[in-house]
Amino acid sequence: MERDGEQEEHEKILKNRETVDSPITWEEYKSMTFTAHVIDETLRLGNINPMMFRKATRDIERNGYTIPSGWAILVCPPAIHLNSEKYQDPLTFNPWRWKGQGSNTVSKNFMPFGGGMRLCAGAEYAKLQMSIVLHFLFTKYRWTKIRGGEIIQTLGVVFPNGLHIKVTENC
Ligand code: HEM
Repeated sequence: MERDGEQEEHEKILKNRETVDSPITWEEYKSMTFTAHVIDETLRLGNINPMMFRKATRDIERNGYTIPSGWAILVCPPAIHLNSEKYQDPLTFNPWRWKGQGSNTVSKNFMPFGGGMRLCAGAEYAKLQMSIVLHFLFTKYRWTKIRGGEIIQTLGVVFPNGLHIKVTENC
């Protein structure tokens, strides 16, 4: 993964701080726009939620088909997230594709946290946590790959052998 955009963003945060070790502020979090793109792209490709169940509470007409009332509906977000009609080169990790869009939580073509009335209650919290982890990973640590990292596409995109890394603290 190219790290330049993200590295730069986090270094800028440190540079503008009066005290380097002070906690992350809300303004700093909101300034992590490229980090938000990295998170969105990771959620798009590696969605931990391959399917969701819904039930038709009335007959639903769609594109000439009828889903009868009472039928179960299986919603499969990777079918949209990895669809080349919705995303150019869908299997490529490209955080820049989100440029200018801010941070995404849910839209017609993006639903890693579900949608509608059952939208994940922890979505914003999860993104905040991921941003904080990435901030410290970039500013305080370095890592090297040990093994793994092979990628296969099943329903979504997964690492069958994991991705083992060695993390070291910056001197
Ligand atoms: C990257 C991290 C996460 C992902 C991808 C995720 C994804 C999801 C999805 C897809 C649903 C909807 C399931 C459905 O519609 O059937 C859901 C529901 C939910 N999630 Fe998350 N989640 C994440 C993190 C969290 C965290 C950190 C919390 C709590 C602190 C949380 C709390 C909930 C709750 C309470 C619901 C049920 C909402 C409801 O049914 O009204 N999630 N999540």
